[in-house]
Amino acid sequence: MVKPSVLVTRRWPAAVEARLAEDYNVVLNTGDKPLAAGEIRDALKTYDAVLPTVTDRLGPEALDVSGARTRILANYGVGYSHIDEARARDLGLTVTNTPDVLSECTADIAMTLMLMVARRAGEGERELRAGRWSGWRPTHLIGTKVSGKTLGIIGFGRIGQEVAKRAHHGFGMKILVQNRSRVDPALLARYDAVQVDSVDALLPQCDFVSLHCPGGAANRHLINGRRLDLMKPDAYLINTARGEVIDEQALARALWFDTIGGAALDVFDGEPHISPELIDCDNLVMLPHLGSATREAREAMGFRVLDNLGDFFAGRTPRDRVI
Ligand code: DGY
Repeated sequence: MVKPSVLVTRRWPAAVEARLAEDYNVVLNTGDKPLAAGEIRDALKTYDAVLPTVTDRLGPEALDVSGARTRILANYGVGYSHIDEARARDLGLTVTNTPDVLSECTADIAMTLMLMVARRAGEGERELRAGRWSGWRPTHLIGTKVSGKTLGIIGFGRIGQEVAKRAHHGFGMKILVQNRSRVDPALLARYDAVQVDSVDALLPQCDFVSLHCPGGAANRHLINGRRLDLMKPDAYLINTARGEVIDEQALARALWFDTIGGAALDVFDGEPHISPELIDCDNLVMLPHLGSATREAREAMGFRVLDNLGDFFAGRTPRDRVI
C-alpha cells in the first residue's frame, strides 16, 4: 500500500520525526523556517496531510486553494485558533489537535509565572546580572505572598484544572472559576472551588487571575481596560492561554500606572513581536511561549499527532478531531 504523503511545517522532536518517517512519505522542514501563505497553499495541493503548529497562520489567505489534495490538518498543539474554521470546513478538511499531554507542563508554567511575578524574581535576576545587587537588606525587593491567596481561573478546561490542583493542594489557595458552561460540582469539589457567573464578577475578588480560555475572535481582548480596572490594585494577571485575550495597550497602562500589582505573560498578541509598551514594565514577567516546552510534553504532542493521523488514514474518527 502506498504510504500517505505528509508535510511537517516546523522541526519536531527527533523521536517523533523518526516515527513519522517510518509510517509516511514524510517531508520535514529541516531548516525550521516558518512557511509563507503561498507555501502552505502549495502544500495543500501536494500532500495528503499537512502537520502545522500553533505559529503557522492558516487563515483565509493560506487556505485559499481550489482542488486541495490535503484531507487532514493534524495540528501539533492544543490551540487551533490559527486555523480559519469556516475555510477549513469549506475545503472538507479534518482538523485535529493535541490536548491533555501538555496540560501539566502548561500549568507548571502558569505557577512559575505566578511565583515569579509575586516574588519579583524577574526584577531580582535583572538586578543581579546587571551587577546592581548591593546585598541582603530587610526592605529589598519585597514581594507578595502567594500561599493562601485567592486565585481566579478563567476557563476551566484541562489546563485550568491542573492549575487549580497545584494552587489549591500545593499552595492552599482559594479557587474561583469562571467558565462558559456549568462545571460539574464534583469537579469543583476536588479543589474546593466556587464557580462565579461572569468574568466581571470574578475579577474584583481575586489576588491572582490566570487565563486558560481559548484564543481567537470570540475572546479577543476579553481582558480590556474596563476589566483591568475591576481587578484589585495589588492583584496579578497571568496569561498562558493566547496573547489576543489581553488588550496589551490597556495592560501596559495598568502596569505603568500601577492600577494592578503586576502581570506575567507566556503568550503575546502577534508573537514573536512584543508590544514596545510592555518591554520596560518592571512589574511584568515575560517568557517566550514556553508552556509546553518540556521534552516529555513536546514528544507526547508529536505522538498524539501520530495517533490522530493513524486513525484518520485507517478510516476511524481521530480522537482529537476538532473540525
Ligand atoms: C498550544 O499547544 O496551543 C500551546 O500554545 C503550545 O504548546
